[in-house]
Amino acid sequence: MSIEKQPLNPTSNRRTFLSRLWLGLGLVALVQFVGGTLAFLVSGSGKKSTHEPLFIEVGPVDNFALGSVTLIRQGELYLNRLEDGGFLALSRKCTHLGCAIAWDEEQKLFACPCHASTFDNSGRVLKTPASRPLDQHPLTIENGQVNIDIETRNRRQSFKPEQLTYALKKG
Ligand code: FES
Repeated sequence: MSIEKQPLNPTSNRRTFLSRLWLGLGLVALVQFVGGTLAFLVSGSGKKSTHEPLFIEVGPVDNFALGSVTLIRQGELYLNRLEDGGFLALSRKCTHLGCAIAWDEEQKLFACPCHASTFDNSGRVLKTPASRPLDQHPLTIENGQVNIDIETRNRRQSFKPEQLTYALKKG
């Protein structure tokens, strides 16, 4: 009994190898796409921060005068105390394309150096192209100390008074 040997065809082998390689790469891309889509959907459309909260103590309530705006460099945010005593922590990131805004004490507004958006002291848009208010950081007041979560930024569609945090009055 004789066994017939098939002649080796290097072109055919290369084609088979390449088509398997492309199939493998295609599968990897598909798995990554499906995984990324699922992660996006599970995280609630990607709007929520995925970071763990990290509260830092920024000082006693009385350190912040009514109507003051204080830059907290560690968190790249501003701590605002409105005239009624309410506290609000606002991200420094412009909601247009993310440039760092700056407080203009004379005009009493936040100004973005990139495309000239401006915001009032509660973060509301005064001048476009930014289309939504500055993001807000969670804030607590415990034992007279102001604490800010520097890792979490919450998107807002508008400013609401319930976003303010007040110190409990003594007595
Ligand atoms: S990044 Fe602020 S206005 Fe464009």
